[in-house]
Amino acid sequence: MENHKNVTLVEHPVVARDLTILRNQSVSITEFRAALKRISTILGYFALKDLPLRTLTVETPIEETEGYEIDTDVVVVPILRAGLGLVNGIVDFIPDAKVGHLGMYRDEDTHQPVDYYTNLPEGIEDAYLVLVDPMLATGGSANDALNYLKTQGAQQIHFISLISAPEGIAFLQKKHPDIQIITAAIDDRLNDDAFIVPGLGDAGDRYFGTI
Ligand code: PRP
Repeated sequence: MENHKNVTLVEHPVVARDLTILRNQSVSITEFRAALKRISTILGYFALKDLPLRTLTVETPIEETEGYEIDTDVVVVPILRAGLGLVNGIVDFIPDAKVGHLGMYRDEDTHQPVDYYTNLPEGIEDAYLVLVDPMLATGGSANDALNYLKTQGAQQIHFISLISAPEGIAFLQKKHPDIQIITAAIDDRLNDDAFIVPGLGDAGDRYFGTI
């Protein structure tokens, strides 16, 4: 695992293998979905490493001992649509996590994010939020999402981006220097259509089969 300022680059053989499956345009939608779910579990694990714990005692079959439980609400916030593909891999190991939705799409001509839906659970001020989106390209969508979450009172936010462009990382570091980005790859650049190169194409289209 390599650490840049505010960026956790998760390096792991399983992540490298799954990232390659996701990049490969020839894999089936079944393989794509399965790899995205597996990789989201690993990225989620790193995004949740600062979760607060409270102590409790448990009785093992042998004796009483000290243990822990998570001392906060966890809210996973996918940026729709593609972020939905990262939710279940995290909810699998935080089964009481709440899920807030932020609907936005990128205008194909201006590359600017357009908001169309928001639905957050109560109590995000005190919760541990994990914002998830497979792609950080220009950073416009993530910037909008983070601005919105902060105006709603969110205090603790980690951002999972499966594949990040250097341009998007630089933009977020400038706009939200307090936010930790957890990513599996920092790719080369954006092309003229603001797609990540080499990237994996349009994550939402590949995950939902709308190509
Ligand atoms: C993609 C992606 C991010 C955004 C990244 O979504 O999932 O949300 O673009 O680009 P940015 O960093 O330049 O804002 P898209 O607009 O394709 O919508 P979708 O998830 O509904 O497919």
